[in-house]
Amino acid sequence: MPLKALVFDAYGTLFDVHSVIRRCEQLWPGKGERISQLWRSKQLEYTWQRSLMRRYEPFSLVTRAALDYACEILGAALGPREAELLMRDYLELAAYPDVAAALEKLSALRLAILSNGSPDMLDPLVKHCGMERVFAAVISVDELRVYKPAPEVYALAVSKLGVSADEIGFVSSNCWDAIGAKSFGLSTYWINRGGAPVDRLGFAPDRRLNGLGELPALLAR
Ligand code: 2OP
Repeated sequence: MPLKALVFDAYGTLFDVHSVIRRCEQLWPGKGERISQLWRSKQLEYTWQRSLMRRYEPFSLVTRAALDYACEILGAALGPREAELLMRDYLELAAYPDVAAALEKLSALRLAILSNGSPDMLDPLVKHCGMERVFAAVISVDELRVYKPAPEVYALAVSKLGVSADEIGFVSSNCWDAIGAKSFGLSTYWINRGGAPVDRLGFAPDRRLNGLGELPALLAR
């Protein structure tokens, strides 16, 4: 079945969550990279833990809580000013350098975002990156109040886009996310920019790519 739509994960796939390293480094010299790494991993952990606890909070609150934790454990003093600067930076993350050209080449397909991000974070970020017209839909888990990789999240993309699951390709740099989509029944493309091994979760993404720039040629074959 030829693909009609491509659905992209946002954070870590289109937008570089570690764009905040520079600000972290300015605020806490020598700790920037560690804070950013721990901030991201706690952010993800909290999404999974809250989903299991059935205690959903929007990604903006989860992200703020994860920052708090990362700063405390790494001994970085986080006051209201620092928190505001970093949360604002999260609305202005950089798109990866391979994103704009790839999306342009893929524009014959319906393109959408499916993200754990809440609309209060996603909408300004998409606007900041000048991508409002690129996507037919920016779909947030927020209306379901559960995070990826819950299968109902991937089902939301199917219902929102009005195409069948086998006409959707799902693209993520987060291996667990690509596997979640595969487990649900989508064709999956794992953008493995860092050359990581595949997660051991009982499924593997259908295709592994070194960057988003490889996707247009792969789909044109
Ligand atoms: C996203 O949903 C998981 O961060 C990832 O955008």
